[in-house]
Amino acid sequence: MRSNTRGDAFRITTFGESHGPAVGVVIDGVAPGLALEESMVQAQLDRRRPGRTGLDSPRAEPDRAEILSGVFEGRTTGAPVCILVRNVDARPGDYERFRDLVRPGHGDAGWLAKYGVRDWRGGGRLSGRETVGRVAAGAVARRLLAERSIAILGAVVEIDGIRAGAFDAAFAESDPLRCADPAVAAAMADRVRQVRDQGDSVGGIVEVRVDGVPPGLGDPVFRRLDADLASALMSIGGVRGVEIGDGFAAARMRGSTFNDSPMPGGGFSSNHAGGLLAGISTGQVLVLRLAVRPTASISRRQATVDLQGRPASIEVRGRHDPCLCLRIVPVAEAMVACVLADAMLRQASIAKVPPTPDELRLEIDRCDDALLAALAHRVHVTAQMGTAKGTRVPGHLSRPAAGAALRRAWARRARELGLPRDVALSVLEAIGKGGGPGRRGQR
Ligand SMILES: Cc1cc2nc3c(=O)[nH]c(=O)nc-3n(C[C@H](O)[C@H](O)[C@H](O)COP(=O)(O)O)c2cc1C
Repeated sequence: MRSNTRGDAFRITTFGESHGPAVGVVIDGVAPGLALEESMVQAQLDRRRPGRTGLDSPRAEPDRAEILSGVFEGRTTGAPVCILVRNVDARPGDYERFRDLVRPGHGDAGWLAKYGVRDWRGGGRLSGRETVGRVAAGAVARRLLAERSIAILGAVVEIDGIRAGAFDAAFAESDPLRCADPAVAAAMADRVRQVRDQGDSVGGIVEVRVDGVPPGLGDPVFRRLDADLASALMSIGGVRGVEIGDGFAAARMRGSTFNDSPMPGGGFSSNHAGGLLAGISTGQVLVLRLAVRPTASISRRQATVDLQGRPASIEVRGRHDPCLCLRIVPVAEAMVACVLADAMLRQASIAKVPPTPDELRLEIDRCDDALLAALAHRVHVTAQMGTAKGTRVPGHLSRPAAGAALRRAWARRARELGLPRDVALSVLEAIGKGGGPGRRGQR
């Protein structure tokens, strides 16, 4: 089953089952030197965590992130980053009564036909719990993207036909349903409660917008950015469709309406394309919408069959989300982050992407190391020179050219390297005054 890994340059592999000991992710391709703390991952996991709003599953998982590898003293080392989250509120007993039944709306029958064996505890690998690893990976991808001022904002824009008229991501962040519009948030939440109390579930639409995506990401033809995003978003359980920009509405438009006119000096007159043309980012805001089905597990009695195909009935009581939309928002954002980080790193291999402050800091550290190593070597060689000539060394500058000639040589070399003359000569002076084996009177 080689289907648990995605991405090339930023490659994630998720692992774990709903009621096993843990879930998590291994990320390969994270450059060294990126500042990464558990708290950054935790902040994203907290956004996905169930049992906090009364509108989602009451499963009370603390979802504590443990970074097992790839980070040392708060910075990535370039080694694979493994993030583990232990399952502490698993109750496999809740699922005993369904182990010989095919749950309607779930992938039980298909999984059994495919693998012949299944972990029936809470959907096993097919559970939404698997998305913990995705959100952890998304937190790392977001760190990379934040360095380039790329911001990913998701919200619920439709529930059971109630539509948001605005996209207020800041409001959504504090709303229990993650609704994009304060004007309809209460109505949406009421609808979810009402349907849940009837033993049923509802679907809706999640929207993700991405600000700051540079033009040029995405690799035609098979790694178009739209294709990558759609595939990543469709891999989330419960997502039944993905739209980009005007999406399906574009099928009913004229070219004269759909086309976004490029403007003199940059930008476009409109964004019907949702920031993507020919599978390459245009530099406009990315607009993605996900159609989310009503949750499969409902407590209402439904007709089904057992594993031998005999008629049966089922009521899926337990801890379930009456509406998946609010849970899917952070997962969708995470998948978008991973796809963009991957596209960004692939792009960096063919074009020059401006370095981030973290990358620059790392490069300065490397330069300092190289400078100090060279200086130490110079001190050592100078001392050897002193010994070889059997003379005392006047400072580190044991060569006869220690005076004006050496200054001229340094000034010339500085000019060739584009280094300010003053900087070069002040270093020369400091070396001359510095301590070490060659210092006058200390041999
Ligand atoms: C974060 C998250 C939480 C989910 N919670 C539930 C749940 O409580 N009950 C349920 O029946 N499905 C839940 N799902 C959806 C199932 O995983 C999914 O519907 C099921 O595997 C069938 O896949 P499909 O709907 O993509 O065809 C959840 C999905 C996600 C992403």
